[in-house]
Amino acid sequence: MAQGIKKNSKSVYVCSACGGSFPKWAGQCPDCKAWNVLEEMAVAPKGPGSGRFAGYSGEVSPEIYTLAAVQANQEIRVPSGSKELDRVLGGGLVYGSVILLGGDPGIGKSTLLIQTLAQLSVSMQTLYVSGEESPRQIALRAQRLGLPVDELRLLPETCVERIVASAEKEKPAVLVVDSIQTMFTEQLQSAPGSVSQVREATAQLVHFAKRSGTAVFLVGHVTKEGNLAGPRVLEHMVDTVLYFEGEAGSQFRLIRTIKNRFGAVNELGVFAMTERGLKEVSNPSAIFLSRHTEAVPGSVILVTREGTRPLLVEAQALVDESPLANPRRVTLGLEQNRLSMLLAVLHRHCGISMFDQDVYVNVVGGVRITETAADLAVLLAVLSSFRGSSIETGLVTFGEVGLTGEIRPVPNGQERLREAAKHGFKRAIVPKANVPKQLVKGIEVVPVERLSEVLDAI
Ligand code: TYD
Ligand code: MG
Repeated sequence: MAQGIKKNSKSVYVCSACGGSFPKWAGQCPDCKAWNVLEEMAVAPKGPGSGRFAGYSGEVSPEIYTLAAVQANQEIRVPSGSKELDRVLGGGLVYGSVILLGGDPGIGKSTLLIQTLAQLSVSMQTLYVSGEESPRQIALRAQRLGLPVDELRLLPETCVERIVASAEKEKPAVLVVDSIQTMFTEQLQSAPGSVSQVREATAQLVHFAKRSGTAVFLVGHVTKEGNLAGPRVLEHMVDTVLYFEGEAGSQFRLIRTIKNRFGAVNELGVFAMTERGLKEVSNPSAIFLSRHTEAVPGSVILVTREGTRPLLVEAQALVDESPLANPRRVTLGLEQNRLSMLLAVLHRHCGISMFDQDVYVNVVGGVRITETAADLAVLLAVLSSFRGSSIETGLVTFGEVGLTGEIRPVPNGQERLREAAKHGFKRAIVPKANVPKQLVKGIEVVPVERLSEVLDAI
């Protein structure tokens, strides 16, 4: 054996752009010629029992099953103590699942998890692993928030192998690792926070969760590009991905489900950051409506449906003469291309042109709308601002606008109408196919099929 030092495990260098793997590091990927893309990765030793993949514990088995033969018990869900958190989790915590909670620094990830874990610690074993804050800081915060801390176990540690070893002994039902970017594995020499370290640390924690049945929360910081430590490297490894959203200045914090193997995606949980920590907001519709005392031009209320509940939000538009050769199309909380498309439809099918106007659209309260049901409201808001004429206060709307100028139905029309009626709205402009068979009490429904009918209705 000529080698002087022998590492206990091998590593290879993998290109994060093309995926090629090489025995030596180089500044440029020999395959795809991209620069600074090679990352060190651990190679698991080959042999029996070395196989490892999410959702399976123990050795790789060569057996093939029929699905009927697999015992699929309904997963047990544990209430997390917060209705809004349960909602984004798909109805509660699932044992053995791994949940990634992402968000900008300072948005409230640690606060939410320490609160949740403290509540859970009353009835089950919990463990909070922190690689970011000192035990003193954590204890001070927990005491200030008035949390039950008697049973809350804390481990300041950043080495994954040691964390897993402690967790094997401690056997927590719920484990929080704050944050995954501070964790490192002894198998790799690269710095904590690098893509390969984060990926390998996550892989070990996922493996631990599946093996032990512990529910694991991983905190992840979002990078400047809006990704979780590199291009979404973790999202495919975990069961559930939750993201904090919201405006920096606002008191409200939204958590959105990006991926969930145990429930619906795009589910939205709403919290408010107070001096006593994060409080859940049970009636979010009320906070996203800015109450104008009288009708103002450019404001339209729409009923969106994020996840499984309808939500009333206000779309605001400002249309102003543009000094630019290329007038601006600015959207906040909506897709910009969608606005351009809507303006084109408005021009082509109603003859209203805005080619010399700047158009700004904003969804109030920092909500991001991902569905097309907002189309109609956005168009109405734009039109209302353009004409300087306000839209009556008791009006709501939803519906998709098609390229041929037709108004297309959206899912769950009746539920949306009921939400609007509940908040005292009197009139709704909706796609014809969304008109419910049963009348919704307290709200007059105006069905529309074409864009031109919408203009007549307001
Ligand atoms: P934190 O949970 O530490 O953020 P993260 O872990 O996502 O980086 O949240 C810190 C912010 O929350 C900080 O700006 C102060 C604020 N905050 C409150 O307003 N009230 C509170 O009770 C707590 C604990 C934090
Ligand atoms: Mg934190």
